[in-house]
Amino acid sequence: HSNMSFLPFGISATDRKWEIPRKWLIIDEKTPLGEGEFGQVMRATVTSVTGIGGHRVVAAKMAKTAVMINRGDVGEMISPELADLLSEFHLLKDVSHPNVIKLLGACTDVSGPFLLILEYCEHGSLRNYLRRSRLVLPEQQQQNPSSVMVTPAVTPRDLLSFAWQISQAGAYLCEMKLVHRDLAARNVLVASGKVCKVSDFGLTRDVYEGDTYFKTSKGRVPIKWMALESLSDHVYTSKSDVWSFGVLLWELATLGANPYPGVTPERLYRLLKTGYRMEKPDNCSEELYDLMMKCWREDPQERPQFAELVKTVEDMLGVGM
Ligand code: ADE
Repeated sequence: HSNMSFLPFGISATDRKWEIPRKWLIIDEKTPLGEGEFGQVMRATVTSVTGIGGHRVVAAKMAKTAVMINRGDVGEMISPELADLLSEFHLLKDVSHPNVIKLLGACTDVSGPFLLILEYCEHGSLRNYLRRSRLVLPEQQQQNPSSVMVTPAVTPRDLLSFAWQISQAGAYLCEMKLVHRDLAARNVLVASGKVCKVSDFGLTRDVYEGDTYFKTSKGRVPIKWMALESLSDHVYTSKSDVWSFGVLLWELATLGANPYPGVTPERLYRLLKTGYRMEKPDNCSEELYDLMMKCWREDPQERPQFAELVKTVEDMLGVGM
């Protein structure tokens, strides 16, 4: 019991290399990047994180109830939200891929809430990025390229590039034997240069949106992204991630629409079980639709592997990329 207080939040001595002193961090209270029932992400600046005295904009993620109970002075009390954040920390320490969010460090000392420090992705979530891009007229951009254009128009090629990047992240996670369980456009971040980064590894949601997480006895579950076997038997594998990736492809093709419009979460399982699948979105190629349909095969073994998805999307992009 008393030993625990020297290792707050189950942080081991080898985790110390990730420690960022709180005094190096300036949290920009005016800029919440995402907020939901589970956690909160704030923009922040870290001084001397590189050791060369520079500043770096980062994202600081905390459990929502941080201020109330996630402090050392209440001993070992760890809320479910903090448990998610801690598991995200431990997981991110061991991953490194250009299309996976990068861990920069953490503030773990008990003088304040546990903070996860992540690389900052200037365009925010892919879902919001896609939805914002609907409002941009391509002509507007050509005529006045200097007008404050936070979200540039998204081309069909960009969408394929996003699909390719996310399938690469999926292949990497599969190789690492990690199952994400919540692959969705809301959990992919867009960094500068239109680089996609899969994020949200602790089942911690930044943004709670309407019927996205359907409440069950097990908490909130992203019903409309879940594979049949996850819905029926709570089975999660890389093949159930592939199913979710298929829904993500549909989100790309619709520029961030909500899947299964008009279908209540309660009805979805029966519908899928009887063979119903979403129809081809307007402006979606037969090839891309064929790919999502393969991801939604009932038998997990018949779904493509992420490595195959990478290849197929590469072919669609054409050689020379
Ligand atoms: N929202 C959630 N995480 C973020 C990050 N790392 N960068 C920008 N916006 C975010």
